[in-house]
Amino acid sequence: MTAIDPNLRRGPFRVSDRVQLTDPKGRMHTITLEAGKEFHTHRGFIRHDDLLGAPDGSTITNTVGVEYLAIRPLLADYVMSMPRGAAVVYPKDAGQIVQMGDIFPGAIVVEAGVGSGALSMSLLRAVGEAGRVHSFERREDFAGIARANARAFFGADHPSWTVTVGDLVEALPGAVEAGTVDRVVLDMLAPWECLEVVADALIPGGLVIAYVATATQLSRVAEALRDHGGFTEPHAWESMVRDWHLEGLAVRPAHRMHGHTGFLITSRRLAPGVTPPLRKRRPGRGYADVGTEEEWSAEDLGERLPSDKRVRRTARSIGEPPRLP
Ligand SMILES: C[S@@+](CC[C@H](N)C(=O)[O-])C[C@H]1O[C@@H](n2cnc3c(N)ncnc32)[C@H](O)[C@@H]1O
Repeated sequence: MTAIDPNLRRGPFRVSDRVQLTDPKGRMHTITLEAGKEFHTHRGFIRHDDLLGAPDGSTITNTVGVEYLAIRPLLADYVMSMPRGAAVVYPKDAGQIVQMGDIFPGAIVVEAGVGSGALSMSLLRAVGEAGRVHSFERREDFAGIARANARAFFGADHPSWTVTVGDLVEALPGAVEAGTVDRVVLDMLAPWECLEVVADALIPGGLVIAYVATATQLSRVAEALRDHGGFTEPHAWESMVRDWHLEGLAVRPAHRMHGHTGFLITSRRLAPGVTPPLRKRRPGRGYADVGTEEEWSAEDLGERLPSDKRVRRTARSIGEPPRLP
């Protein structure tokens, strides 16, 4: 197996390197260097040969005098510009997944689905060559795109990566030994359908982290984790990142931002036969306990209703004659 060469990410530009070009208006283009090739825009062109051998972080002037900054893309830049099959996990969420999912060097990680491979690359970097990422993707075409994206970024097939084409529920039990996986990362439509096989694969104390786009998916994963009985109480959150504009005295938040990407939810695998400790707070009724929407009460949704006495007092204070309920 080829080891990943860190020197591919540093040093003067070479053939096959991806280079990010930024024009004076901040517009970015990413090119892959080839001897004899040219990069054309509607205003002039750049010869790749003029970049070959130049230091990373150089400037280059095109045939009509437009100056470009030429620099190697970071992983975060790369995933946002690489070819996509499915939507990618944004770098801000990949960072959260690596940190809050505790993806450590040498870890054995299971991931599904692979999509375009953006998250896989962050996981591979975090586990390093001493670890293993077993990724599962049910669409063969997406798996192909992901493999090609990762190969282009790492400069070789990552020796710690296995991509299996198939549904996680069917493929996972045959791919890993039960009770050996440190971390499971799920980015798919219905992660709750996979919790049984995930629980079997995880080592006691192992962690599952799911990335979901909607509150309804989030709620369903939380309920499924609780119903399973072999996991700790789930923890959910979202992160919002707001860029800042830095221009002279105009130092302020950017006007535009990605207001929503997804939610994250984590839970730890308990040892076999152990049941979760009793929760101090009385759990609210779940989907299974209520039928139609009309049966939902304010308490089910975690709302604390004021006492009748308090409502009467408030009504009196604003001059409204109290009406008994
Ligand atoms: C949003 S994409 C994943 C994007 C990926 N995390 C990235 O950063 O590029 C979701 C993928 O999950 C795959 N998928 C959904 N359910 C699956 C399952 N049960 N087993 C394997 N793959 C699944 C879909 O085919 C899709 O490609």
